[in-house]
Amino acid sequence: MAFSEAFLQELKYRADINTVASRYVNLRKSGRGYVGLCPFHSEKTPSFNVFEDTQSFYCFGCGAGGDVITFIRRIESLDYVDAVKLLAQQCGLEVPEEGVDNGAALLRKKILEMNREAAKFFYATLKSLDGAPGREYFKKRQLAPEIITAFGLGYASAKWDSLLSHLRSLGYTEEEMLAAALIRQKDGHSYDQFRNRVMYPIIDLQGNVIAFGGRVLDDSKPKYLNSADTPVFKKSHNLYALNFAKSSGSKTLILCEGYMDVIAMHQAGFKNAVATLGTALTPEQSRLIARYAQDIIVSYDADEAGQKAAQRSIGLLTQVGLTVRVLHIEGGKDPDEFIKTHGADKFKLMLEKCGNHIEYRLTQAKAKYELSQPEQKIAYLKEAETVLATVESAIEREVYAGKISEELDITKDTLLHDINSMITKSSRRKGKQELRTELAVTRGLQDRINPEKGRYLRAAMAEESLIVLLYKNPDFLKTLDTIITPEDFLTDFNKRVYGAERDMIKQGGEPDLASLGAVFTPEETGKITSMLVLRPVSNTIEEARDCANVILQEKLLKADNGVDALDKLNELRQKKLGR
Ligand code: GTP
Ligand code: MN
Repeated sequence: MAFSEAFLQELKYRADINTVASRYVNLRKSGRGYVGLCPFHSEKTPSFNVFEDTQSFYCFGCGAGGDVITFIRRIESLDYVDAVKLLAQQCGLEVPEEGVDNGAALLRKKILEMNREAAKFFYATLKSLDGAPGREYFKKRQLAPEIITAFGLGYASAKWDSLLSHLRSLGYTEEEMLAAALIRQKDGHSYDQFRNRVMYPIIDLQGNVIAFGGRVLDDSKPKYLNSADTPVFKKSHNLYALNFAKSSGSKTLILCEGYMDVIAMHQAGFKNAVATLGTALTPEQSRLIARYAQDIIVSYDADEAGQKAAQRSIGLLTQVGLTVRVLHIEGGKDPDEFIKTHGADKFKLMLEKCGNHIEYRLTQAKAKYELSQPEQKIAYLKEAETVLATVESAIEREVYAGKISEELDITKDTLLHDINSMITKSSRRKGKQELRTELAVTRGLQDRINPEKGRYLRAAMAEESLIVLLYKNPDFLKTLDTIITPEDFLTDFNKRVYGAERDMIKQGGEPDLASLGAVFTPEETGKITSMLVLRPVSNTIEEARDCANVILQEKLLKADNGVDALDKLNELRQKKLGR
């Protein structure tokens, strides 16, 4: 029997892995999660890890790993269905009847279609004759046309049934529009939910329009109107602009309160800003953040309410292992207003002041040199560049490079250029090192789950990265499908995993360990978890392209020269790396 996706989602949210695993294992807090003695093999030092952010477990000793369902499967020796039933029972969830899901899945698809049409319609209205009030409003808020397009902002006209008539003309029923929360009904009369408001579509990680926020043009109340929860939208489980921010190439996210703050930040070049959707931060949202970032800067409004909310968020964010910093905005109500009044550079400086270790290291270095002497100045700059090359966030590097360039009268671009080439070199070095470690591992110990890995090592590593990239960035699939298919994969196991992820996304869901656990054995799920835990990725489409290209190259090599040649090549590579 297949469980509905909605049911599995609910189960996942209720059955916290830490709580469940704690019933069987003594766990203590450590780094990103919890550790304890592995219940699946005997050991004296703990190597069993539970990760809150990904809701998964992994044992570095025996390679067991997976999500909460896999955990129950293994520890209670149950098959998938019975493990789900047991968990549901423990969480007080009723297991749904068979076949109920089909209608629900269809409705979800319909709602997503309607939302996309609505977003297109609001955007077109903004550009039309009727859109003048909206255009004026955005102009007043100093939004550039490019940013309006990038965020798909729009305008809902003052008429009572603009969207309603439009959707009806496309063949949607009022019942469906109600389910999408796009219209309302009163005394049997239907009318548009959003009228005379500027519109902010909320987009999920697959690029689906899942809901809307709408703002009044004046001071009337309510200022913002958000879509009610629907089968495709849960306010408490989504973040505004995470779809953009996750690809910003930064390991830091900036969390703010409002839509306008996020948009103003993106316009000013801070492409890693996200916001909650009009509610206080929830545990689900902080887990989502931890999936894409290591550090978070909380950048709430300067008023008392904002600062109180910031305090509350810190707890949730540190619980999932994030490094948290809090920005205190002086001289402005919120980030949007601050950037307008004082400019983006001042905002950068403020981000930088929000205390961390980089400044400390730079100050220490500076104290060693006499900066009026040219050679000493150069030596300091070299040292400063080395420090900055270790900084993961591009924004932080920019901020500090800017500061140094001002102090020492060097252009910021020169500094950043040097720093970037240092980073490229060291990541190449790291790549080689990684390959060397993998070689050692596969030489010593055959990969039981993916026995072909040793033979096609370079391809298999790229395959694994691609599997992780698609897992975390389902929206990459559209692009990836134009480059590579599962058939191109060289190792059979990775082909199956990538194929399964692809199917899940095509069916409108996203890959997660719970759904993969239904397709793969617990051992295989463990292997997939180890990829997610051990393989670092940058969540950029460029990296995904690179991986796909490596796979395709290796495939060509294999086709041209046969397997023997590939074996020889591997041997050569091992020699070159110096064993
Ligand atoms: P402006 O700059 O005035 O456009 O607003 P803002 O983006 O700075 O938002 P503000 O700080 O006033 O509020 C933060 C967030 O809370 C908003 O982005 C909304 O998501 C939410 N919010 C604000 N006012 C309301 C309201 O009246 N109703 C609802 N449901 N949410 C609101
Ligand atoms: Mn504001």
